[in-house]
Amino acid sequence: MISFPLSPRQRVPLRKAVYASLTLVVCVILLHISRNGYPSFKHRFEDSVPEDESAASPPVSAEEWNRRAERVKEAFRHAYHGYEKYAQPKDELRPVTNVGMSGYNGWGATAFDALDTMLLMDLGPEYKRALEVVKVANFSVTYENRGFVPYFETIIRYLGGLLSAYALSKDEILLRRAEELADTLDPVFNTPSGLPAFSYEPVRGLLHIPDPGVLAEFASFQVEYTYLAKVTGKKKYYDRVKTLNRVFQEANLSDSGGMLPTEWNLREGAPRQAKNRISVGAQADSTHEYLLKQYLLTGKIEKGNLEAYLRTTTYILTNLLYLSPKRGLLYATDAANTSFTHPAGTPSHIFEHLSCFLPGLFALGAHTLPLNDLQSVGIDFAKLGSEPLYSGTSNFYRKLQGYDLKKLHLWAAEGLAHTCWLTYADQKSGLGPEEVMMLTGFRGATTGRWWDPRMVQPRGGNPSESYLWIDAMAKWKKSGSRGPVPGWMTGKPVVWTEEDRLAGRPNTRDYHVRKPGYLLRPETVESFYILWRTTRDERWRNRGWAVFEAVERETKTESGYVTLKDVRGSPTKRGNSMPSFFLAETLKYLYLLFREDDPLPLDKWVFNTEAHPVPVFSWTAEERERFSV
Ligand SMILES: *[C@@H]1O[C@H](CO)[C@@H](O)[C@H](O)[C@H]1NC(C)=O
Ligand SMILES: *[C@@H]1O[C@H](CO)[C@@H](O)[C@H](O)[C@H]1NC(C)=O
Ligand SMILES: *[C@@H]1O[C@H](CO)[C@@H](O)[C@H](O)[C@H]1NC(C)=O
Repeated sequence: MISFPLSPRQRVPLRKAVYASLTLVVCVILLHISRNGYPSFKHRFEDSVPEDESAASPPVSAEEWNRRAERVKEAFRHAYHGYEKYAQPKDELRPVTNVGMSGYNGWGATAFDALDTMLLMDLGPEYKRALEVVKVANFSVTYENRGFVPYFETIIRYLGGLLSAYALSKDEILLRRAEELADTLDPVFNTPSGLPAFSYEPVRGLLHIPDPGVLAEFASFQVEYTYLAKVTGKKKYYDRVKTLNRVFQEANLSDSGGMLPTEWNLREGAPRQAKNRISVGAQADSTHEYLLKQYLLTGKIEKGNLEAYLRTTTYILTNLLYLSPKRGLLYATDAANTSFTHPAGTPSHIFEHLSCFLPGLFALGAHTLPLNDLQSVGIDFAKLGSEPLYSGTSNFYRKLQGYDLKKLHLWAAEGLAHTCWLTYADQKSGLGPEEVMMLTGFRGATTGRWWDPRMVQPRGGNPSESYLWIDAMAKWKKSGSRGPVPGWMTGKPVVWTEEDRLAGRPNTRDYHVRKPGYLLRPETVESFYILWRTTRDERWRNRGWAVFEAVERETKTESGYVTLKDVRGSPTKRGNSMPSFFLAETLKYLYLLFREDDPLPLDKWVFNTEAHPVPVFSWTAEERERFSV
């Protein structure tokens, strides 16, 4: 820049002019305040929309969004045709070597998993061909895992796929096969507690009951079995769900802060008390998800599930959310060794791609639950932590009392989804890694926790006005970024390459990539989808589009789409698999995100954890009586 020095003679009048205009500005501000009152932080921060890339990008027309949805449909056809050509009837395609592989019984997992996506995309010919695979699969013989059927994966992919396709098509064959599958697998429940074993070998009738039993693996069948009970009218399926609900309601969760820990004793049907581990990601994710979804699916009458959901989210908000040091990225981590006396346990500060479903869950809860009027559904929020099985947790509820819970849950959703997005946008490939290790120590705060006492300083007086993080916000303001609370969509993409690391340049992105692979996973775009539907904020769609473009650019092969070994490069080393969930979930959520109309309103459909939608229903009086709901 060229600067023209002022001559001494010119300087004096200029200074006068500056003083005069400053005085004028101050007068205008004072006048504004006297008329409108002192500008409150609340409005200034709430109304401000953080700057981001979408502010700069031109608006996209409705036609263009529909065209983008068509692009996803093309991607789906490309992937499915590759599977049919090279892999069927095995479970999945190896899209580099063009052969099939089976890890989930060898019944054709990709075909089962993709049925409802085909129906949504109106892919009649593909659907007809997939039905042939569905018809001939023999559920009594499995060709993998030494003949053992892994219960969890089989339920969420196969049973979920069948039931959802049935809900969308009403093709009877799908329901018949769903029932047959559930009945074949029913012996998994022959355990002392009535909780399902990890796997079952149908030929010799053997069970594999692991110790410890992993939460997500034995407790992610409620949505599928409840819907199956509804459409078949058979009580036996719902009884399985009731057993699980009872185990959860009788568990002493004092040592895990009221949240369901990851390790259980499957024979006793109780948490393993020894060293509690709590996670929102691997080993636990879908169980937390199903607490809310089961409540929504059955027309909001199973209050126990809602209470468990509120306990879980309250613990997450007050104990498991942290902020990164520089960019203030909000993230959720797991914790080991939690106990009655030390409820926050030892956090690992690992943030998993799997945990990126959590923002979507928070957004769904904020959208569907009367969080600021829980009395209307018979829940006394403050009392949730004071029952004997949850002793030691009541102060978590006290901390949140008086806050606008709906807003709080939504902020958590948006902040977390923003971090998930940045883990994509920060990479050369534009795709997010499987795991990052966050750096700690947000702005000198004592723990770096979102709900750190030094960050939360309720304003005196009316507690409902006190959701401002005054102390942190003051610092925040100085730093020039905006947002109502720390971690609310802050930070811009930072590319910090291997060369930067070798050159010793500081890591300004706040994390190290711990597992650099990209497994074509859905969680991030799933959350974008739910956030788009519940907030109508276009940024989530724009980001989803950027993800889709990166998937096309980085992962497409002649026969399908492939996992990557290291998202930090582009082009980068590839794996050799195309998981069935890429077709069931990732492409489905992207397709629904771009489509202008909303074929599956979130108050009428519930997605199982493999993205298979089933419709919300109410029990009839007769069913309530017969099933003792
Ligand atoms: C499925 O496999 C079992 C065990 O080999 C066999 O007895 C049964 O006849 C098969 N069912 C069909 C329909 O082929
Ligand atoms: C949890 O406690 C056990 C036993 O006291 C200890 O060996 C382990 O290192 C602890 N884990 C963490 C993450 O602190
Ligand atoms: C639950 O566990 C806590 C901590 O281990 C214990 O202090 C409490 O007595 C237990 N509550 C019940 C009702 O068993």
